[in-house]
Parts: sequence; structure tokens; C-alpha cells
Amino acid sequence: MKRNIVVGITGGIAAYKAAEIINDLVKKGYEVNVIMTKNATEFITPLTLQTLSNNKVAVEQFDHIDKWDTEHIALAKKADLFLIVPATANFLAKLAHGIADDMLTTTVMATKAKVLIAPAMNSGMWENPIVQSNVSILKKYGYMVLDTASGRLACGDNGSGKLLDWKEISRLAQEQLKE
Ligand SMILES: Cc1cc2nc3c(=O)[nH]c(=O)nc-3n(C[C@H](O)[C@H](O)[C@H](O)COP(=O)(O)O)c2cc1C
Repeated sequence: MKRNIVVGITGGIAAYKAAEIINDLVKKGYEVNVIMTKNATEFITPLTLQTLSNNKVAVEQFDHIDKWDTEHIALAKKADLFLIVPATANFLAKLAHGIADDMLTTTVMATKAKVLIAPAMNSGMWENPIVQSNVSILKKYGYMVLDTASGRLACGDNGSGKLLDWKEISRLAQEQLKE
């Protein structure tokens, strides 16, 4: 049976890079389910990711309530691995403090699978001690939070906070499932 990776996408400019990762994982034979935050849909369309993943994309938690299926629990159980890419400062803060107010945060909190998180944000945000403290909290609870790369950011600044190379993130995700 195919191993399942649930890819969570949040509202950062690097969201388009998640498309390459999803495409790569599908090509390598993984089943991929995608959950986007509402803000992520401002950056990349669910249709693109639905087409690449061959699966319906989940955004709204209450979309499917008529079917009485608790999709967040179903995906939480189905996942062999969770990959959040890109992870916003907002997402890191919510998860670190147990806030489950949308489909993505609710599902991540419900899962027993390993969770790999690839943050991306402006250097000022990434270096903010509040963000770094949230990263430490998440690591303490066993979440795998990747470091960021340094370079030119989408906003024109140079510094840390850049999403790691998407190929490296895809490789690290696959490595988790080989252990
Ligand atoms: C053009 C634009 C780019 C943004 N890029 C980022 C980013 O790279 N990282 C980040 O943490 N927030 C970024 N934000 C702010 C987030 O979209 C905002 O904090 C939002 O509330 C995140 O929601 P979510 O975590 O539910 O997806 C950006 C906002 C805009 C308008």
C-alpha cells in the first residue's frame, strides 16, 4: 500500500514551492493529501494542488459536515507523515500554543504521525524571539522544525527566513518514511 503524506500549506509567499514538492512526492509513488489554510489559497489555488495530488484539497473545516465525516480525524489517522510547507509565523504560534481553529491546525493536533515543519518568513519575523520561542516549544514537543536558509527574500530583504530548497525538503520528508 502507498505511504501517505499529508501536506499542510499556510499563507506565505513560498506556498507555490509546495506545488513542486507535491508533484515530486506523487511521482515518487506517495499518496498525497493536501490541507490549506484559507490564507494559503490567496497564494496558490486549491485546483492546482488538487490536480497535482490527484486528491480533493481540504480548506474549510465545516465544508463536509453534511456528510457527517470528521475529515480532520480521517486525515490525521491516514497520515504516515505530516509535512507543513511553508509554515507561517502564525501557524507556528498556533500549534505551539494548542490553538486549533481551522482544518490544518485541528488535523495536525489530532495526528500521531511524525510532523515535519518547514518555516518561511521575512528575516525580521524569523529572528523575532517570540517566533524562536515558539520553535523551541514545538521542538520540545517532538515536532521536527527545519531551519531556514539565508538569501534574498521575496520582500527584497537579504537574510534568514527563506524556505529551504524544495528538493531538500522533499528528500527529508521521504527520509522520514524510510526509517
Ligand atoms: C504578500 C504576503 C506575503 C506573506 N508572506 C508570509 C511569509 O512568507 N511568512 C509568514 O509567516 N507570513 C507571511 N504573510 C503573512 C501571513 O499571510 C499572515 O500572517 C496570515 O495570517 C497567515 O495565515 P495562516 O497561517 O493561517 O496561513 C504574508 C502576507 C502577505 C500579504
